[in-house]
Amino acid sequence: MYTEEVMEHFKNPRNMGEMENPDVTARVGNPSCGDMMNIYMKVGEKDGEKYIEDIKFKTFGCASAIATSSVTTELAMGKTLKEAEQIEEEEVAEALGGLPKIKMHCSNLSANGLHEAIYKYKKKEGMEISDDLEKKHEIAQKTLEKTEEMREEHGLDEE
Ligand code: FES
Repeated sequence: MYTEEVMEHFKNPRNMGEMENPDVTARVGNPSCGDMMNIYMKVGEKDGEKYIEDIKFKTFGCASAIATSSVTTELAMGKTLKEAEQIEEEEVAEALGGLPKIKMHCSNLSANGLHEAIYKYKKKEGMEISDDLEKKHEIAQKTLEKTEEMREEHGLDEE
């Protein structure tokens, strides 16, 4: 059912854990399954462009959610914010050699987490935010609220 890449990232997740003194943190959730992802980012600057200097994640979720979170951090590491903003769930799933159809939403979680962290950083720094990113943020906020309600309802404790 899962590709070798998914299993490999699930068993040996890259960039997993919390980060000390991140420049920004973000949290996203998936209300259909209750899975959640925390993302931590350090942002640097080279040639006048902001880029992702370091990125880590902590995901409470299924094997696909862990694997997609892991590969998303790999895809985003070192990229400019502009480039990282273009990383979508299809690219995440492709980097893992594909995901079963019913698991495609899991790659959504990590792409959303990345976009939300970029949004929050840009907001904090007073940078320009595209309409697309603004819209993604609004959706992310609503789905996070629903996920938190769902987790509470089902007594899903994360720590
Ligand atoms: S089942 Fe929820 S993210 Fe995979």
